[in-house]
Amino acid sequence: MTAPQAPHQTRTFQSVLVTGGAGFIGSHVVRTLLRNHEGIRIVNLDVLTYAGNLSNLRDVEGDARHTFVKGDIQDGALLAGLFEEHAFDAVVHLAAESHVDRSIENPLAFLETNILGTATLLNAAKTSWTARGCMETSLFYHISTDEVYGSLGEDGLFTETTPYDPRSPYSASKASSDHVVRAYHHTYGMPVVISNCSNNYGSHQFPEKLIPLMIRNIVEGRELPIYGEGVNVRDWLWVEDHAAAIDVILNRGWVGDTYNVGGLNEWRNIDLVHKLIELVDAKLGREHGQSKSLIRFVKDRAGHDMRYAIDASHLEARLGWKPSVTFEEGLAGTVDWYLENQDWLEEVTSGEYQKYYEAHYTNRG
Ligand code: NAD
Ligand code: TYD
Repeated sequence: MTAPQAPHQTRTFQSVLVTGGAGFIGSHVVRTLLRNHEGIRIVNLDVLTYAGNLSNLRDVEGDARHTFVKGDIQDGALLAGLFEEHAFDAVVHLAAESHVDRSIENPLAFLETNILGTATLLNAAKTSWTARGCMETSLFYHISTDEVYGSLGEDGLFTETTPYDPRSPYSASKASSDHVVRAYHHTYGMPVVISNCSNNYGSHQFPEKLIPLMIRNIVEGRELPIYGEGVNVRDWLWVEDHAAAIDVILNRGWVGDTYNVGGLNEWRNIDLVHKLIELVDAKLGREHGQSKSLIRFVKDRAGHDMRYAIDASHLEARLGWKPSVTFEEGLAGTVDWYLENQDWLEEVTSGEYQKYYEAHYTNRG
């Protein structure tokens, strides 16, 4: 593969296809790009699986620079039409099946969406950019995960040169899609960039992932299921810092480069759950540690990776990105958001959120 090259100048993309923009990270990315780039036009393509929630984007609904399209990244004809109509000069690809537990239950859906979907998208971009003669000035940006690197022991951090060793169907599907993206760069000269990020937390995260699930259960006095002994370690990054990193990488990332994104915030699951109990109980005026009795150690996840931890120094050195908040600040703000947005949680839990698209987006001229 050719060595990554610095862009001659900060790029300013005019017409950007964001995939998965109704999901957790994608909705923050859409908001960040609209805030930071006045002249941008975004088409947000999302098929609205259980994880897609258009009410996540309520605040940008009136923004004419943002167009939502309900559709599947595996639909080549739809993609060809969108490329033709909007002449995208960049793709920011986040659409994916994203939950490890679901990938253990139903691996095929992950292989289809994450591998075939990414390949279909790459193909549409290649066809369009070749036909328009703008391959060199375009960019395909794939948002990936640190889970492609496998599982760490007690020491060490994942760097961009850590060999891939995915161990769940989810991480295997993301690793495969990273490889396909690099293959398009190497074989067809497509300008690509990939970032591999650690676990995100923050507002609008579907409450199947550890932090929002635990907050919801603590509030409602439900059991708190901890897999195994709770000693697995995850490295947590505030989602808005991830969105800021994505913006920086989109505009200044070196073509062909890979960036690890993380905040040096390692927590054992059990310690994190204790921290959440402390924060939520205090906010709700409960006795200190009252909700500890809700903790239940349950059967471990199959193939549960022990530890993830990211070295993000390459991103900082090359592009100057650093997290903007400490974990304490980010977590406290996140707890506040879920407590103040119980209606969001209720709509997600009841399934009501799935009616948002029909109620707000159909019947529009
Ligand atoms: P999410 O599950 O919240 O959102 C995924 C979005 O993709 C949803 O809106 C869903 O409707 C959409 N989608 C799924 N299949 C689709 C398809 N076939 N066509 C079009 N849209 C489809 O996920 P997330 O946590 O926001 O993650 C976004 C991306 O970031 C994923 O690629 C994930 O692998 C990656 N990532 C996530 C984390 C994390 O901690 N959540 C960390 C690193 C990387
Ligand atoms: P999760 O949020 O599913 O993210 P990932 O598997 O991508 O890291 O899980 C984070 C950690 O929390 C992981 O080690 C599994 C653990 N976990 C539990 O102990 N209980 C739970 O109910 C969930 C959802 C996760």
